[in-house]
Amino acid sequence: MDKIVIHGGKRLAGEVRISGAKNAALPVIISSLLTEGWNTFHNIPDLMDVRTIKRLLASLGVKCEGKETLRVNAGEITNCEASYDLVKTMRASVLVLGPLVARMGRAKVSLPGGCAIGARPINLHLKALQALGAEIDLKEGYVEARAERLKGATIYFDISTVTGTENIMMAAVLAEGTTIIKNAAREPEVVNLADVLNSMGANIRGAGTDVITIEGVKGLQPTEATVIPDRIEAGTYLMAAAMTEGDLTLMGCNGDYMEAPITKLKDTGLAISSVEGGLRVKGTREICSVDVKTLPYPGFPTDLQAQMMALMTVGKGISVIRETVFENRFMHVNELLRMGANIAIEGNSAIIKGVQNLRGAPVMATDLRASASLVLAGLAAEGKTEISRVYHIDRGYERIVEKLSSLGADIKRIT
Ligand code: EPU
Repeated sequence: MDKIVIHGGKRLAGEVRISGAKNAALPVIISSLLTEGWNTFHNIPDLMDVRTIKRLLASLGVKCEGKETLRVNAGEITNCEASYDLVKTMRASVLVLGPLVARMGRAKVSLPGGCAIGARPINLHLKALQALGAEIDLKEGYVEARAERLKGATIYFDISTVTGTENIMMAAVLAEGTTIIKNAAREPEVVNLADVLNSMGANIRGAGTDVITIEGVKGLQPTEATVIPDRIEAGTYLMAAAMTEGDLTLMGCNGDYMEAPITKLKDTGLAISSVEGGLRVKGTREICSVDVKTLPYPGFPTDLQAQMMALMTVGKGISVIRETVFENRFMHVNELLRMGANIAIEGNSAIIKGVQNLRGAPVMATDLRASASLVLAGLAAEGKTEISRVYHIDRGYERIVEKLSSLGADIKRIT
C-alpha cells in the first residue's frame, strides 16, 4: 500500500490551482440520470470518488467519457441497483436513489452503514422519499424504493442534511406538483446542483436558503455546466500556508462560500486577500489560537475541522474545537498526539494546547479529512512523517503530492 513521506519544515511558496469540488461534482454527475442524451460537465476533479461514481453509473448502463470535461449519457438505464461494494466505498452513491425513482419508478440501493466519522444514517432521505409517495422497503441490507410518479409534498428535515437535500431535490424535479423542502441544507454544493438541474429545465427556487421550492416538470434535457471550486481543498491550502509561514496564491477559487474559514484563519494571524483569479495567503511566524465550532453552512465546515486542529497544535495558546455535525470525527487526534501535539478530548470538544514544534512520526490516515490534517502536520513537523493508508486522501484531494511538491514541500509518495 502506498505511503506519503514528508520531511517537514520547508516554507511553501508559489501558485497552486484549486480543483473542482468533490462534493459538488458527485451530485452533478449523478444528476445526468434524469436526462436522456449527452451532458457535458466541466471542472471535474480527477479523484478516486469520481472514478467510483463512474463505475457506479457504468453499472447502471450509463456512458461516461473524459476526465476534467466529462460527458455523461444516461439514455439507456439498464439496471436500477447500486451494489453494496460500491456504496460501502463511497456513501455518496446513495444519491442515485432520488433520480432513479424519479425517472425509472424504482431503485435498489445498498444501505451505507456506519463509517469512520459517525453512524451517518439515511433515515431522513427515506422519510422524505416516502413523503413524495415512494414505497420504501428495507431488505437484506438494501433499500428498495418504488413509485409510479412521485407527488410533490412539503418536507421538513429535522437535521440539515446535504446529500439528503440533494437526493430529494433530484427526486422532486420530476414529481407531479410542488415540493417544498424546509430546513434544507444551504451548502454551495446544493446551489451548484440546483443550478445544473435548472439548466436541464427544472424549476427550483430558493437553493442557498433553508426553504427550497421545486415545481415538478415532465422531463429534463441534457445540459452543459461547470462544477464550483473546492472550498475544502482551498481551505486546506490556506492552512498549509499558515503552517509553513508560506506565501501562496490559490488560483481558480475565490473567497465566496469561504467566509467562516477565512474569518477564523485571519483571526489566527493569516493574511488573506483576493487577487485576480484567486486568493493570496501569507503565513506569520506566530499562529494565534482560536476556538472553532463546526456547523452546517454558512458555519465553519466540519470538512475543515481536522485540518484546523492540525494548525491549532502549533498555535500560541489554547484552542477549543467543537464538532457538532458528526459524532465521531476525532480519529486524527491520536495520530496528532503521536507527533507531539497536546490535545484532550471532552465529549464533542477537543482542547488543544499549542506546542512549539511537532515531530515527524509514522501515522495512519483514518478518513479523508483526517489524512489531510496529517499531511499539514507533517509539513510543519521536524523530521520525517510517514502517512500510511493514503487511499483515503486519494478520494478527495487531486494530485496533492504533486501540488505541494511544486510549492516547495519535501513530499513524495512511495509504493
Ligand atoms: N443525518 C441523519 N440522517 C440522515 C442524514 C444525515 O441523522 O438521513 C445526520 C448525519 O449523521 C450527520 C448530519 O445529519 O450527523 C449531517 O450529515 P449530512 O447528511 O449533511 O452529511 P452527508 O450529506 O452525508 C455531506 C458531505 C460530507 C460532509 C457533510 C457535512 C457529500 C458527498 N458529503 O455528507 O463530506 O462532511 O455533508 O457537511 O457531499 C467529506 O467530503 O469528507 C465529507 C464527509
